[in-house]
Formats: sequence, structure tokens, C-alpha cells
Amino acid sequence: MISAVALSVLGLYGLSVNAQATEWAQCGGIGWTGATTCVSGTVCSKINDYYSQCIPGTAAPTTAPPASTVTGPTPAPTATPTSAPSTTGPATPSSSCATPPASAGKLRFAGVNIAGFDFGCNSDGSCTASAAWPPLTEYYGHDGEGQMNHFVQNDGFNVFRLPVGWQFLTNDVLGGVINETNFQKYDALVQACINSGVAACIVDVHNYARWDKGIIGQGGPTDDQFAALWGSIATKYASNSKIIFGVMNEPHDVPDINRWAQSVQAAVTAIRNAGATSQTILLPGNNWTSAATFVSNGSADALNKVTNPDGSKTNLVFDVHKYLDFDNSGTNAECVTNNIDDAWAPLAEWLRCNGRQAFNTETGGGNTASCQQFLCEQAQFQAQNSDVFLGYVGWAAGNFDPSYVLGETPTQSGSVWSDTSLVKACLAPNTLRLLA
Ligand SMILES: *[C@@H]1O[C@H](CO)[C@@H](O)[C@H](O)[C@H]1NC(C)=O
Ligand SMILES: *[C@@H]1O[C@H](CO)[C@@H](O)[C@H](O)[C@H]1NC(C)=O
Ligand SMILES: *[C@@H]1O[C@H](CO)[C@@H](O)[C@H](O)[C@H]1NC(C)=O
Repeated sequence: MISAVALSVLGLYGLSVNAQATEWAQCGGIGWTGATTCVSGTVCSKINDYYSQCIPGTAAPTTAPPASTVTGPTPAPTATPTSAPSTTGPATPSSSCATPPASAGKLRFAGVNIAGFDFGCNSDGSCTASAAWPPLTEYYGHDGEGQMNHFVQNDGFNVFRLPVGWQFLTNDVLGGVINETNFQKYDALVQACINSGVAACIVDVHNYARWDKGIIGQGGPTDDQFAALWGSIATKYASNSKIIFGVMNEPHDVPDINRWAQSVQAAVTAIRNAGATSQTILLPGNNWTSAATFVSNGSADALNKVTNPDGSKTNLVFDVHKYLDFDNSGTNAECVTNNIDDAWAPLAEWLRCNGRQAFNTETGGGNTASCQQFLCEQAQFQAQNSDVFLGYVGWAAGNFDPSYVLGETPTQSGSVWSDTSLVKACLAPNTLRLLA
């Protein structure tokens, strides 16, 4: 629980000396006692009943003020110019990649991770097939299928990420030979995802660039073994346009990022050569796919060289994660940042300058007031930059207990599902209205 002192500090944090809320700061909502006007260049925009924030732009008179505040005749609208603005003046500099195009504003995807098949996978890549816990009632797990149907029908989500351990897929045999018994179980979740009515389902191999402590291509599995795995998975889903291939969850402490990019290239080539020629493939960088250090740590430049077999980069999208707690670990209930200045703004600029896109496939926080503020701000910013950001996927539901600190697992009573407060306030597309 956030303390009253912390709350007042957070409240003051968004205020400038003239008591106007700063860009991205809160400016209204039930219970809000801080500034309700925004600094110049931003406009107070309602996100939900509990949260309004200052968003870059100028006020557009899209809705009439409430009748009770109208005291005189409605002012005539300002005349709109009837002729096109002069083009004879000096051209405005267009070199900046910092500004999204006017067409940006709506994300393609918003979703939730449905975890369980990855249970038992440690960050050193050690996993056992038997530790996986399918998030499906027929395998004694939570009702992942019911969760996804609820998320789509009641919240408007349109993508799910379905983590699975490499060891589960091959039943603990290193290489690319899929164990059909195990795959049938995982595929039941994939099919439930597809049948829920989503736009896409992400197959995520949740191994941290490793198999049992060995790093792929750098002492551990060979690129050929990794490529064989992806060739096998892609063969299964080659004809399904809703599948997105998540090459690897959270590589970290990979010594040679350029060598890692070669391993990623091997996976991409295998996926395309298996007949999955057009689906989106997610390319993961170093440092836990950190959005903040994607460029500075060299992942951006290394992965920017990965191509399809025809030399194009079509539908090759960077995979980035970001949490909002003080150590970016995604283990703390309180959030301290919206990541905009440190991560999303510089990343957006790099992506735009380089003609690339990224997908934030893990983010989230506790069910706390601080996370409700910062995660709403982050999602809003991503939508403002939707030309370079495809969307976000919250961590996590599936087999997580609703009491898990980052739990997004809805609870069911009869036929009624209830969401956690963070899902309701900041992740559900029906609340934020950030989806295209
Ligand atoms: C596949 O995995 C199951 C365990 O889920 C195991 O009993 C079976 O022997 C494996 N099949 C092969 C062909 O290795
Ligand atoms: C990894 O990212 C975190 C923040 O996301 C940063 O504090 C840390 O310095 C990064 N490490 C490297 C090696 O880039
Ligand atoms: C990226 O991080 C690794 C540690 O994970 C470090 O050894 C390396 O020097 C960093 N590279 C750059 C370009 O910052």
C-alpha cells in the first residue's frame, strides 16, 4: 500500500511552480486534488473516471461544455482559414525523428501474457518439461481459455503472449525435434487464443537465450539447434496469419551482441524457410530486452542487420520489455516512472530515424495508485507514437495467482469475471481507447 506521504509527494511531483500540471502528469480524476490545468502545449485529457493527464497538443473543442457552465450565448467558432497556408516561406525543418506523424495515436495491439507453460524456466535457461503447468483446466491449471475469452469480450484485448519453455516443447531433448505429446498441450492454448477472436497470438520461447546455463551460439546450444527448434515451430503454424513468432524471451548477459544477432538471424531464416513467410517475428536484444538500453547497449545496431531471406526487413519487429518499479525488475508493487524520458522517447526517435518498429511484450506493475498513474502514462505515450510502437502486453495472467504482485489474473464468480484494478484502469483497451 502506498503511504499518504508518498501519495502527496507523487501529487506534488507533477506540479510546476505556477501550479499547472506538467506534460504527462495527472490533471484530474475522482479523488484528485492537484492541479487541473496543464502547462502550455499540453491538454488535460480524460483517460478514465479516475485519471486525466496532460497530453501534448492543443485543446480541440470536440465536446461541448456541460450545460450548467454555459452562462452566455455560445461563442461563434473561430473562422477556419479558407485557403491553404502559404508555402512560400522557409520550409520547416523535417529532420527530427522525435515527432510522431499526425497519423499516429492508436496502437495495433494490447494484450496480456497467459503464463504457465514457462513455469520452472529460470533465467539461466534451466527448465524441465515436467515443471511446466498448462494454464488450461483440462490439464489442472487455471482457465486460460476462459480468461482470454473474457479479456477479448469484456475488455477489448486483441493479443495474447503464450510463454513456453524450449525444454517443454522437446521434452528435455536439446534440439529441434518437437515432442508431439507436449506440443498438443501447448497447441491447445494457442488454438484457444486464436479462437478467442484476437488479432494475434505470440508464441514466446521463454529461455533467456539459454538452455541449461549455456548461451545459444556462445558456448551453449548451436545456432543450428536453435534454428531447428524455430523451423519446427514455424512448420506447425506456417499457414496461420495470426501467429507472431517471439524468438526468445529476455536474453541477458550475452557477451557478444553481434554474435547473438547471428543466432537471431538463424531463427528468422528457419522460420521463413519453413513457409511462415509473412508473419511478424519479434527480435530480442540484450539486457532482458530492456527498452531503455536497447540502443545504448548495442542491441539496436546489431539486430538492425537481421533480414528476411530476401534481404528485406518486412515484419521483423524488435521485442522490448520495460517495468516501472525502481529497479526495473517487475517484482515490486510500486511504480516510480512512466519510462517516457529514459526509454520510450529515445527509443521512438531511434526507431523512426531507422524506419523500424518495436513491440512492448512485457510490462506491468502492482495494483497500486502509483502503477495506475505511471502505466496509464506509458500506454498513452506508446499510443501517441503508434507509428513505431505496435502495442503492449501486460505481465501476467494464466496460472499466476491473483495475489501475485504483478497478477493480472481475473477472478470468476459464476459467469462474471472481475479484473484487477491495474488491468481495469490502464491495460484494458476498452478503458484507454488506445487501440486502432
Ligand atoms: C514425449 O513426452 C512424453 C512426456 O510428456 C513422454 O512420455 C514421451 O515418451 C515423449 N515422446 C517421445 C517420442 O520422446
Ligand atoms: C540494463 O538495463 C537497466 C535499466 O533498464 C540499466 O540500469 C542497466 O545499466 C542495463 N545494463 C546494461 C549492461 O546495459
Ligand atoms: C552491453 O552490456 C554488456 C553486459 O551485459 C556489456 O558487457 C557491454 O559492454 C555493453 N555494450 C555496450 C555497447 O554498451
